Order: sequence, then structure tokens, then C-alpha cells
Amino acid sequence: MLDWSEPSATPKVPVAPQAGPKADATGLGEIERGGARVSVDDKAMINCRADVNQLLPLKYKWAWDKYLAGCNNHWMPTEVSMQADIALWKSRDGLTEDERRAIKRNLGFFAASESLVANNIVLAIYRHLTNPECRQYLLRQAFEEAVHTHTFQYIVESLGLDEGELFNMYREVPSITDKAAWALKHTQNLENPDFQTGTLESDQAFVRDLIAFYVIFEGMWFYTGFAQILSLGRRNKMVGIAEQYQYILRDESIHLNFGIDVINQIKIENPQIWTKTFQDEVRQMVKEAAELEAAYGRDTMPRGFLGLNPALCEQYMHFIANRRCQQIGLAPVFAETENPFPWMSEAMDLKKEKNFFETRVIEYQNGGSLAWD
Ligand SMILES: [Fe+2]
Ligand SMILES: [Fe+2]
Repeated sequence: MLDWSEPSATPKVPVAPQAGPKADATGLGEIERGGARVSVDDKAMINCRADVNQLLPLKYKWAWDKYLAGCNNHWMPTEVSMQADIALWKSRDGLTEDERRAIKRNLGFFAASESLVANNIVLAIYRHLTNPECRQYLLRQAFEEAVHTHTFQYIVESLGLDEGELFNMYREVPSITDKAAWALKHTQNLENPDFQTGTLESDQAFVRDLIAFYVIFEGMWFYTGFAQILSLGRRNKMVGIAEQYQYILRDESIHLNFGIDVINQIKIENPQIWTKTFQDEVRQMVKEAAELEAAYGRDTMPRGFLGLNPALCEQYMHFIANRRCQQIGLAPVFAETENPFPWMSEAMDLKKEKNFFETRVIEYQNGGSLAWD
């Protein structure tokens, strides 16, 4: 009988990591000839000794469902026409200087960030997440991050942008560097070849990295970036890029939800790591991240444009930060606030708004039951 447990379900008894057939955590160790077959109860998120090369029987249906949803959402950036964007970008007075600056910084932030996220999955997270259905999703996510990086290559090529300027912004624009450096300090710990989970400290370091990348990088910082471009799209500006960002946002919302499910399931199986001190530390991380984003907002659009300004972006970040805290079982870090961009939820819903930008849309999705938050 399969155990289709959801992370939000009643906490289960922690799984003993040493149970089941002995194999190494990578899946590349010596083959244990004649070893016992894996049963569902042998499987665990981290520190598991069950053979990670046996996908079935599934234990975490939520991970498999996200893999299927990711496959159903398949898209490629080159399917989106850039003609209107090229005409607008090359026109003398189609965009203000403030809009051009915000667009370029936004593209520069995402161009390198997609790569940082992909490298974190492949080089830091994958090795320590000892469950094959979660790894199956990570492989799909890694490909999606490659598609996202491809999107920025395609935009640079289409608009004739300075590739060096765009792809170096994460090193050359301080408000972008500050965010990337903040996240990197968490992944640097894990990609050390000597790093292993299995102690309270190292398990917490692993969860800290998951929070830095899934909850904060993809789940908070990307969202103000989406709001900037989708706001332009709503006003019929840079509609090709806006459409690509809708597809990226659809992918990212699954990445975020996968990360939240992983974190919550690890907490269920390893309740000892979720100490009061650790919870306080995570709340502090979320707060710091919101402050970094506010600084980026002031730097990217100092005078505001098209209904966006640094104060509204900061308010949006507070709203999102509180929501993320709630999703991983933490008390809010900011005073309760309204969502200043309620239109974002409509812009996220591709099924309902598929003619939103009146550009060519290919509808791959057939899993309309996912929550796009
Ligand atoms: Fe991405
Ligand atoms: Fe992502």
C-alpha cells in the first residue's frame, strides 16, 4: 500500500535513517547484490540509507505530482515572438529612461540568478536529498532553470543588448551583488566536498540553504522582479518579455511550492532541527532578505514608473514575506499589510488570462488545479 502522505498531513513518526537496504546516499556506491528491496517505510527525505535508485514504490506523491506538473508546463522562449519588443526597444521615445533602466536591471538580476539557482540544485542540494521522487523533480527543475537562462540569452540576442553588461550585473551592480552574495554564503557551506548531513548542525545548514534558495531567492526576490515586468506587460509594453515572465512565474511557483513541501516534510521527519533558536534565525533571514529587496527596489526604480515605486515594492515584499513564513510554519515578521499588487494573481493565472497580452500563447498546461502563489 502506497503512503501518499502530504507534508501538511498529521506529523508521522520519524523514519529511522538506518532502516532498509544499505546503500550510499549518492546512489553511485557499490551495488549490494541480493540486498532487500526498498519498502515505503525505508524512504526518508534526508540521511536515508535506502537505495536512491529505486523510484518505486513512491512515498511522496506531492513530489511526483510536481514533476508531472512541470512536464505539463513545458515551453521554450523561442516560441514567443519578440517583434513588438524589438520595435519598442529600438524606438526613440517608446520607453522612458527610467523604464529602460528598470528593465535592464531586472533582466540582469534574473540572468545570473537562474544560473545560481540551477547550480545550487545540482551541486549542493541534489546530493543530500536522499529520496528518488524528490530527485526526479530536481532533475526537471534543473532543466527548467536552463530554459529560463535560455530566455535571457534569447532576449539579449533579440534586443541587441550588451551581453557583458547584463550577465555581469550580479557582480557590478551593488544592490544585485548584495542579494546574490547573501544567498551564496548558504550554498558555499554545502558544496564543500566534506559537508555531510546527519548532525543537528549540518541538517540545519541544509534546511537553511533550502530556505535561502526556495523560499527567499525564488519565493520572494523573484516576485518583485515578476511584478515589474508584468506591470509593463499590462500596459502593453515589452509584451514578449512579459509573456515569457508569465511562463517563468508559472514554473517558479511550482519550484517554490516544492521547496516548501520539502522543508515541511524534513521538519516532520526531523522535528529536533526546528528549534526555537533556529526558527528565530530563519525569521531573521526572511527579514534581512526583504530589506535587501527594498534596497534593490530603490536602486532599480528610484522615481517609480507605471504604478510601481520603491515603497509599494517594499510593501509587496512584506506581504510576500509574511505569506512565506506562514507556509513554513513561522510567525509573520512584518505587521499585517495588504497586497499592493492584487493584479499579480490574475497575471499569474495563464489559463484564465491566456489572451491577456494578445500575443501568441501556447497552452501546454493541463493541470489547472495548482495554486499559483
Ligand atoms: Fe528559474
Ligand atoms: Fe526556479
